[in-house]
Amino acid sequence: MTCEPTRLEMFLTRIVFFLCGKSVYQDFSDRLPLQGTEKVLDFGCGMGTVAYYVARRLPQGHLVCLDISQRRLSACRRTLRRFRNVSFLCVEASELPRDSFDVIYCHFVLHDIPPGDLETVIPWLAESLKPGGVFVIREPLNEAEALRGIKRLTEHSGLLLKTSRITHVPLMGNAVESIFAKNTAREV
Ligand SMILES: C[S@@+](CC[C@H](N)C(=O)[O-])C[C@H]1O[C@@H](n2cnc3c(N)ncnc32)[C@H](O)[C@@H]1O
Repeated sequence: MTCEPTRLEMFLTRIVFFLCGKSVYQDFSDRLPLQGTEKVLDFGCGMGTVAYYVARRLPQGHLVCLDISQRRLSACRRTLRRFRNVSFLCVEASELPRDSFDVIYCHFVLHDIPPGDLETVIPWLAESLKPGGVFVIREPLNEAEALRGIKRLTEHSGLLLKTSRITHVPLMGNAVESIFAKNTAREV
């Protein structure tokens, strides 16, 4: 079931974006392993808070912003209206094409998805990564049980944990940032 945000939630997100955009969202965007030519998926893009910084890092690449909420995705279109290298999708992860993205990132998304739904979402995201592609997540540290489930499902989907670090996110507390990689065909 789609959960649409209230006007107040949207307003508060805009405030955080304008006041703390660089320290909360750009900081994460700057660490994504990008050369500028990749095809990237922002899964659970919300109002485009991270995408706004990622789009400018892809001068020869393309960013797909996906969210299950129509209202958030409409706001994301407005946030990114200046960029020509971005497209928008309101679909389930299962509708994504296979072997399609070089990088998929999720910023404060997966811990909120019910465990039963994650059992299908994470394998589909893994399927839609190209061989050699990377999956980057940032999730709240205090969601210990959700984090264990996310790591287990990600590794069961054939992705290997490469790095994991704890960062302090202004207004949101400590978060775990992990990078997983999908083996190239030769490594399998
Ligand atoms: C806490 S918000 C984070 C938004 C954005 N990544 C950010 O950091 O500002 C979580 C987002 O995930 C989206 N979401 C939740 N479940 C989803 C699903 N199954 N597929 C796609 N998006 C989903 C929500 O609609 C919401 O926009």
